[in-house]
Amino acid sequence: MAPEFTSRISGFYKKPVEERISVIAEMVGLSDEEVSTLKSRGGLSLEAADHMTENVVGTIAYPFSVAVNFRVNGRDYLVPMAGEEPSVVAAASNMARLMRDGEGIKATYTDPIMIGQIQVLDIPDMKAAVKAIKRNKKTLLDSANELDPVLVKFGGGAKDLELRPIETEIGPMLIVHVLVDCRDAMGANAVNTMAEALAPTIAELTGGRTLLRIISNLADRRLVTVEGVVKKNEIGGEKAVDNIVAAWAFADADPYRAATHNKGIMNGVAAVALALAQDHRAIEAGAHAYAVKDGRYKSMSRWSKNRDGDLVGIMTLPMAVGLVGGATRSHPMAQIARKILNVDKASELGEIMCAVGLAQNLGALRALTQEGIQQGHMRLHARNLVVMAGATGDQVERAVKELVDGGEIRFPKAQEIVRRIKGSA
Ligand code: MEV
Repeated sequence: MAPEFTSRISGFYKKPVEERISVIAEMVGLSDEEVSTLKSRGGLSLEAADHMTENVVGTIAYPFSVAVNFRVNGRDYLVPMAGEEPSVVAAASNMARLMRDGEGIKATYTDPIMIGQIQVLDIPDMKAAVKAIKRNKKTLLDSANELDPVLVKFGGGAKDLELRPIETEIGPMLIVHVLVDCRDAMGANAVNTMAEALAPTIAELTGGRTLLRIISNLADRRLVTVEGVVKKNEIGGEKAVDNIVAAWAFADADPYRAATHNKGIMNGVAAVALALAQDHRAIEAGAHAYAVKDGRYKSMSRWSKNRDGDLVGIMTLPMAVGLVGGATRSHPMAQIARKILNVDKASELGEIMCAVGLAQNLGALRALTQEGIQQGHMRLHARNLVVMAGATGDQVERAVKELVDGGEIRFPKAQEIVRRIKGSA
C-alpha cells in the first residue's frame, strides 16, 4: 500500500539518492519504467531530442531534485526542481517548512489570459481606424475563435480586443491586443495563430499595414498571487523579521539590488519551470517586465511585519505556464515531474511555481541577513570538490567536514584529504 501522501519528509536530504528515489516512487506511485527514466541521466533519447529542435548532437542533463515541505492552499506538494545551482533546493525546502502552518502558502490566480499583439503601421486616419475595429470587434473575435474550437469548447478562446495607439521614434502606430483565454495551454501557438489570422482583416479595416503579429510575454492578465506567513520565532525573532523587511525595502528601492533579489526568486521559479519543461524564458521575461509596472524596476515580492510581529511575504507574478502541448507532454522527465507534482491545471502549476519563488526569496533574505550567503555555498562547493577528488559513500561527509573545518576550500586540499581518508579505509 502506498504511504499516506505528505510533502513533509524529514531528513530527505540526508538519504542516499537511491533511497530518495524509492521514497518518491512509493509516495507518488512511479512505475518501474519511470524509475529507470529517473535514473537514466536525463531521460531524453537522442532521437527524441532530434525531434524537438534542430542540429542536435547530444543532450545535456541537469540535477533533477524534489523540494519537500511545500503546502499550498492546504494541499501538500512534492516539487520537482531542475538546475545546477547549489543551495536552491535546500533553501526552498527549508523555507517551505516555515510557511507550512495551517493552509500553508495561500495562492490565487486570475483567468489565464494571454495577449497577442498586432502592429499596424501607415494608418491614414487613426481615429477612423480605431472606430472601424471597434465596430467589427465581434466578427474579429468570432473569426479568431473559429481557428481553435477545442480551446473554445473548454471555455477559452479570444475574449476581447484592446486598441493602443502609440507614438514611436518613427511615428504613430496602432497596436491591437487580442486577449485570449488559454485555459491549460501556455498559449503561444493559439495566440500567434489568432494574431496572424486577424492581421489581414485589421489591415483592411484600418487602411494600414500590419507587421508583427506575436504573443506578448508581459502576461499581466494571467497572474498568480501567493502569500506566506512565518512565525517570528521560527526565523530568529523580531529583529530577524525587521532585518528581512529592511533587506526587502532595499531591493524595492534600488534596481541594482532588485535585479539580484529577483534573480533569487527566479532561481526557484525557473527550476520548477525547467523540471516541467515549461518555457522558462517566457516566464522570466514576463516576471521582470511586470516588476517595472510602477515605472521603475522593483522587487517582485513584498515582505512586512504583521501585528503579531510575524513575517508576511506576498508576491504577484505573471505565470504563462501550460500543461498541454509542447515539451511538457513530450519530454519523459517532464512527465515524471508532473506526476510527482500531481497537478491537473496550469493555474495550479502557476501557484506552486510562484510559491517556490517566494520561499526561495525568503531563503536568500534569511541567509543574507544572518550568516551570509557564502557559508552554505562553501559547504556545497566543498562537497563538489571532494566528490570530484574521488570520495564516495561515507567518505564524502567526512571529507567535507575536514575541508570546511580546515578553512582552505580548494581542490588540491580536497584531493589531499580524500587520499588520506581512502588510505586509512
Ligand atoms: C544567488 O543565486 C541568489 C541570491 O543572490 C539572491 C539574493 O541576493 O537575494 C542569493
